Amino acid sequence: MDSAAKTVMDLFRLDGRRALVTGGSKGLGRTIAEALAQAGADVVVVSRTASECERAAGEIASATGRRALAIAADVTRAEDVDRLAAEAGAIDVLVNSAGINIRGPAATLTEADWDTVLDVNLKAPFLLARRFGPAMAERGWGRIVQLGSILSTIGIAGRTPYASSKAGLLGLTKTLALEWADRGVTVNALCPGPFATEMNRPLLDDPTKYAEFVASIPVGRWGELHEIAGAALFLASDASSYMTGSALYVDGGWTAR
Ligand SMILES: NC(=O)c1ccc[n+]([C@@H]2O[C@H](COP(=O)([O-])OP(=O)(O)OC[C@H]3O[C@@H](n4cnc5c(N)ncnc54)[C@H](OP(=O)(O)O)[C@@H]3O)[C@@H](O)[C@H]2O)c1
Repeated sequence: MDSAAKTVMDLFRLDGRRALVTGGSKGLGRTIAEALAQAGADVVVVSRTASECERAAGEIASATGRRALAIAADVTRAEDVDRLAAEAGAIDVLVNSAGINIRGPAATLTEADWDTVLDVNLKAPFLLARRFGPAMAERGWGRIVQLGSILSTIGIAGRTPYASSKAGLLGLTKTLALEWADRGVTVNALCPGPFATEMNRPLLDDPTKYAEFVASIPVGRWGELHEIAGAALFLASDASSYMTGSALYVDGGWTAR
């Protein structure tokens, strides 16, 4: 253990750190943003919808006593990412949670469907890491956490652009990790199985599809939002200091089969 740390629990503290969570207004990103604030970080909540960012930031600030800033930005646009960086200031922890899914057979998906999913799920994490990573490396400490998926490593029919984007995200994660490994910046992927969020509304609302998913999960149920928080904090903190370029699966055992 780091001699400066009193106990292993100290390694999970984020006091004095500033974290930016894309997609922090909803779902897994919202849960992760609050978890990082509970650990002592000030947070910046980002999504395209200003009112939802402001609501989430307000709730997180009230619940944790930490500063929480809301910034509306479309993270697929380099100019928005530049503005975001100017407004957010120095960031120690970047969580790329903004993501979308467009489902359907490959034969019927459009070029625009492909571009939309790849832009949010793969291009945006590159734009954000490129913008925030170098300053982390200069300061000698940083954490980048990419929301991958079980579809980073397995396939499910009807998920062509999503699975491609999430598999690509592992390549981005590994290469960025190597670029900054000797300067205190770690880059890892956090890969969830199914959690009940807006993104999964089409599955949650379809009893047959819902049951099919449950049948694929060894623990026999969907993840509860709070079950992503510990793994996210691990990757965002000193607790994971010797881990970079890796993927951590929080999937109820799905990828163990
Ligand atoms: N839920 C799951 O079961 C699951 C499983 C595996 C992986 N994941 C991954 O985990 C991450 C979070 O998923 P989730 O289920 O929490 O999703 P969610 O509830 O649908 O939330 C998505 C978030 O991303 C934001 N967003 C989407 N496009 C954006 C853009 N262009 N610019 C900025 N923000 C944008 C949304 O806000 P606006 O629409 O207002 O911009 C929202 O805050 C995603 O990367 C997803 O692929 C989720």
